[in-house]
Amino acid sequence: MAGGNFLETVDRSGIIELDRLGEQFNRMVLYLRESFRSLAAERDTAQRFAADAAHELKTPVTTLRAYHELITENPERLKQVLPAQGRQIERMENIISGLLQLANLSEGSGLMLQPADLREAIHRLAPVYQALAEDSGHHLTTTCPDSPVPVLLDQRLLELALNNLMDNAGKYTPPGGQLTLTLQVDTRSAVITVKDTGKGIAPEEMPFIFERFQRGVDTQSIPGTGLGLAIAREAVQRLGGTITADSEAGRGTQFVIHLPLLQTQ
Ligand SMILES: Nc1ncnc2c1ncn2[C@@H]1O[C@H](COP(=O)(O)OP(=O)(O)OP(=O)(O)O)[C@@H](O)[C@H]1O
Ligand SMILES: [Mg+2]
Repeated sequence: MAGGNFLETVDRSGIIELDRLGEQFNRMVLYLRESFRSLAAERDTAQRFAADAAHELKTPVTTLRAYHELITENPERLKQVLPAQGRQIERMENIISGLLQLANLSEGSGLMLQPADLREAIHRLAPVYQALAEDSGHHLTTTCPDSPVPVLLDQRLLELALNNLMDNAGKYTPPGGQLTLTLQVDTRSAVITVKDTGKGIAPEEMPFIFERFQRGVDTQSIPGTGLGLAIAREAVQRLGGTITADSEAGRGTQFVIHLPLLQTQ
């Protein structure tokens, strides 16, 4: 063990005092084993995060370099290339801002969970979503219960999650479609549902939609970085909740967030 092998434990000796010491020792070994395991898992996660980020940023950077070379050789083509360059820069900005949000979320710093009324929080956000839905030619119905819904809340995290879900609902639903934002209460949790009548998600893509940089195969013509749902899931988890998705290709999609109810008596 002194050499770093935490897979071994000490055997019983038959001497009571020594066995008691041995038990304590074995408990310590188990604890160390678990600590090393979770440290290694964290390191792997950080490595994957960096690798994903570098991979995603590579495409716009390579494209920008190609444009740069083109303009250097043919300065007269500058005007023609500018809009495409702008799009790549915007893409990089979106990737970077999404990654920063994810990094801040997983670090967990600045979390401000406070008792709050979820119904009121959603009422505060609803006008923004209503305006966005109208702009994109969708109908939005927001439904909340009659009485307050007490939860532990950080308004910014709720906003982060709902902004991404509402953005998706609008983005993947043709104009004229119906979007619904519903707050309900079941025995233990507050339940927020974001539903649309859009293009839906293919069953084989469902297991991966919450992963970083995962985009639907038929979304090339729709702007996005594939970070929105990863951010939404991380934000909901920070709030102590869960998020699930249900979808039928061609008919629509529904995301359900469960947040623990705050018991008030
Ligand atoms: N409401 C929805 N309807 C249909 N497909 C959806 C919906 N929400 C998510 N998806 C699918 O899941 C994928 C991942 O969604 P996510 O929000 O993480 O990324 P994105 O919308 O592609 O880009 P970003 O949110 O970073 O701008 C999408 O590319 C799309 O294929
Ligand atoms: Mg999205």
